Amino acid sequence: MSFMRIIFLCYHILVCLFDVSLAVDSISQDLSLNDDGNDTTLVSKDGTFELGFFTPGKSQKRYLGIWYRKIPIQTVIWVANRLNPINDSSGILRMNTTTGSLVLTQNGSVVWSTTSLRKPENPAAILLDSGNLVVRDKKDPNSEAYLWQSFDYPTDTFLPDMKFGWDLRTGLNRNLTAWKSPDDPSPGEFSFGMVLHNYPEAYMMKGDQKFYRSGPWNGLHSSGSPQVRSNPIYDFKFVFNKDEVYYTYSLKKSSVISRLVLNGTNYVRRREVWIETKQRWEVYTSVPLDLCDTYALCGANANCVISDSPVCQCLKGFKPKSPQAWNSMDWSHGCVRNKELSCEDKHKDGFIKLTELKTPDTTHTWLDQTIGLEECRAKCLDNCSCMAYANSDIRGEGSGCAIWFGDLIDIRQFAAGGQDLYVRMDASELEHANEGHKKGGVIVAVTVSLAVAAVSGILILLGWYYRKKSRTIVKDRSDFSIKEDQNSGMQVDDMDLPVFNLATIAKATSNFTIKNKIGEGGFGSVYRGTLADGLEIAVKRLSTSSGQGLNEFKNEVKLIAKLQHRNLVKLLGCCLEGEEKILVYEYMLNGSLDSFIFDQQRSESLDWPKRYNIICGIAKGLLYLHQDSRLRIVHRDLKTSNVLLDSELNPKISDFGMARIFGGDQKEGNTKRIVGTYGYMAPEYATDGLFSVKSDVFSFGVLLMEIISGKKSRGYYNQNQSHNLIGHAWKLWKEGRPLELIDKGIDHSSFLSQMLHCIHVSLLCVQQHPEDRPGMSCVLLMLVSELELPEPKQPGFFGKYSGEADSSTSKQQLSSTNEITITLLEAR
Ligand SMILES: *[C@@H]1O[C@H](CO)[C@@H](O)[C@H](O)[C@H]1NC(C)=O
Ligand SMILES: *[C@@H]1O[C@H](CO)[C@@H](O)[C@H](O)[C@H]1NC(C)=O
Ligand SMILES: *[C@@H]1O[C@H](CO)[C@@H](O)[C@H](O)[C@H]1NC(C)=O
Ligand SMILES: *[C@@H]1O[C@H](CO)[C@@H](O)[C@H](O)[C@H]1NC(C)=O
Ligand SMILES: *[C@@H]1O[C@H](CO)[C@@H](O)[C@H](O)[C@H]1NC(C)=O
Ligand SMILES: *[C@@H]1O[C@H](CO)[C@@H](O)[C@H](O)[C@H]1NC(C)=O
Ligand SMILES: *[C@@H]1O[C@H](CO)[C@@H](O)[C@H](O)[C@H]1NC(C)=O
Repeated sequence: MSFMRIIFLCYHILVCLFDVSLAVDSISQDLSLNDDGNDTTLVSKDGTFELGFFTPGKSQKRYLGIWYRKIPIQTVIWVANRLNPINDSSGILRMNTTTGSLVLTQNGSVVWSTTSLRKPENPAAILLDSGNLVVRDKKDPNSEAYLWQSFDYPTDTFLPDMKFGWDLRTGLNRNLTAWKSPDDPSPGEFSFGMVLHNYPEAYMMKGDQKFYRSGPWNGLHSSGSPQVRSNPIYDFKFVFNKDEVYYTYSLKKSSVISRLVLNGTNYVRRREVWIETKQRWEVYTSVPLDLCDTYALCGANANCVISDSPVCQCLKGFKPKSPQAWNSMDWSHGCVRNKELSCEDKHKDGFIKLTELKTPDTTHTWLDQTIGLEECRAKCLDNCSCMAYANSDIRGEGSGCAIWFGDLIDIRQFAAGGQDLYVRMDASELEHANEGHKKGGVIVAVTVSLAVAAVSGILILLGWYYRKKSRTIVKDRSDFSIKEDQNSGMQVDDMDLPVFNLATIAKATSNFTIKNKIGEGGFGSVYRGTLADGLEIAVKRLSTSSGQGLNEFKNEVKLIAKLQHRNLVKLLGCCLEGEEKILVYEYMLNGSLDSFIFDQQRSESLDWPKRYNIICGIAKGLLYLHQDSRLRIVHRDLKTSNVLLDSELNPKISDFGMARIFGGDQKEGNTKRIVGTYGYMAPEYATDGLFSVKSDVFSFGVLLMEIISGKKSRGYYNQNQSHNLIGHAWKLWKEGRPLELIDKGIDHSSFLSQMLHCIHVSLLCVQQHPEDRPGMSCVLLMLVSELELPEPKQPGFFGKYSGEADSSTSKQQLSSTNEITITLLEAR
């Protein structure tokens, strides 16, 4: 055994014992990687990446590859012998010191090898901390003069600091090809590469068919991804000069682990981020995103508008080539001009300006980055086959000139962040088209971008939210103590819990007269009342069936009285006399949310910004219950009738802590009593009594859908009677028509992307499996940012509720105003 080998072994032992990164990161003269021996892997200096032999999925074959060393889920980012797997463990990787090439052999025969640019004196292969396996000459003082590097031959993964695209000097094209299957890393039919049109852009290909188009770089982002912008995770850039055309990105923090990977199973390119606390990869962005990202879905000269139904529209001045096919939703024939252009009078032609677009396929284009729009227009007019022009760089006022020849293919419309395109029109068409356009322009031009933009907002947002929250609590506390002093007929108990006399309450409610009754719920009746000092209160007279003793009850109420949040109805005190158990709350002028959104007239007063405010408020209140209060309360009966609105239509959650007061299990887990309302209950709760914060998230998701759609989760069935609201939303989502869910009464033209985002969040909340649902902190972040969200999985209660048919168990039904709250006592 050579001296080097001994050192190598020592390193290995050290690594095993202490997990320090002293492992060998290079192969040179005397070292090899031997699948059958002791020296089986190379580890990069800081221990991030590891090179060695592996067997993917259910395969029997051995491959040489690179993976993240510290990530327990084996995540292979590069494979050497994709095309030539090794049958057994006889694989050996060696450096041929004469040629400077790495050679992988099986039982002596070569299965894979690298080429080398030069003949080196003392070559070594080194696995860098970036995940790049490089060959360099140790005699060369320039440590970055690589003779070969794996970054030039990516497989399905695009790592930080890789280049995606072309080196025009050498003709090298770095593109991605998905694995054939999780068990087979050989190149599949799905690939993604930069194509060198005059105006370059990247295409995803499924076999030899175009599948998705990134759109050309417009100075800020690819034309097809306006949502990609400055963010806390990575920087990105596009380089386009005479030597190189490539896209690259780098991570802002070395602690973040993120990669782009092309997935041949579900045909997407995702950015994933490793979440250490959850020990899993989370999808950060994903393309293609929706139906309109399907390449050329609408055929030539048409626009795909995801919020329209049907999604395909001919461009202004164009009509369906085959109206019959078009009307039966076969858009492949595309659209043709109402009036053909004539080349003779070409200078009389004009242009109509379309806005917020993904610019068309650039296969037939011409580009001049030095001229502006005016000259661009002139160039276009000058050439009969020019169909459209646009700025090639939209930063600032816009600059550069791109010209399209022939049919315009694969255009789509964004709610915001798209770009202008000037489409050539015969003079006679112009006036007509422009009239129509003005109307369209208004619809598409505006979208509210949230105060806090996108991804970049996360950290600021968290800080903002927590600061804001603590202020709120302090303020509420001071309000609270003032009222204590003012109210007559009330003692302050040992733990700051105001206790009212029954006489005071009786007087305030005119002896619980029926006229003052404002609601009836599973836990008792609610009365409106006025204290002697004029303060309006809501009095909840609990039914006597609480499973608790008096002291237990008092303690629970004291704890719950401590919960203070602007989005929770404030518990002012309680009253315990004889059999009476009464809770006194602040009175909410506007009543419950259901009385608004399900009422045709009142719902009109809730425009989208108000609804959005309500949604976020409920999320904040629920987050406080789940996480920020000391009690960790699972509401278990969240629904529109339990959300009250104050005079400014701010939402406040009511009936929180009721499950505690009524003696439900307080830990996460299984409960004998199922307290909740069908239509809102998570499947695991309704059928197995399993409750957790995630069952509240489910209810929140349903509530969100109701607020967006104005339809009741329970009452809603579509014509064919096969889906409930969740099922309906899911169907629309899968068909790429999610915006059809939106309440017809809302004027939604300006808020499409925000609404779409909320629908997306609601679907994530109602996913079948609790572990797939986000927690409320995450839900809130999703709601207030423009983060790209993962694709939702199938929701729970997709069809009719199975729970409804099951009446065999003894149920104790307590009717409330317009939903049924059900307490299900399991027979034991
Ligand atoms: C591997 O290590 C063992 C001792 O740990 C040694 O006996 C064996 O010869 C080594 N095999 C190779 C191929 O170096
Ligand atoms: C590997 O296995 C395949 C099929 O079992 C066989 O055709 C091939 O010859 C084997 N290759 C080597 C190098 O043993
Ligand atoms: C290195 O490669 C050269 C050229 O392919 C070959 O002739 C030579 O035998 C190789 N040397 C080793 C040690 O494999
Ligand atoms: C390895 O190669 C030798 C000779 O080239 C051959 O006899 C032997 O069968 C091979 N072993 C395997 C497992 O392919
Ligand atoms: C990827 O690059 C290879 C080699 O240049 C080329 O044959 C292939 O068409 C490219 N694929 C895509 C999708 O650009
Ligand atoms: C592709 O996506 C599927 C489903 O999400 C997943 O199971 C698989 O691991 C993914 N493949 C890669 C290479 O990421
Ligand atoms: C118009 O542009 C096309 C495409 O670049 C070119 O082939 C053609 O020669 C041009 N015609 C004129 C008259 O400039």
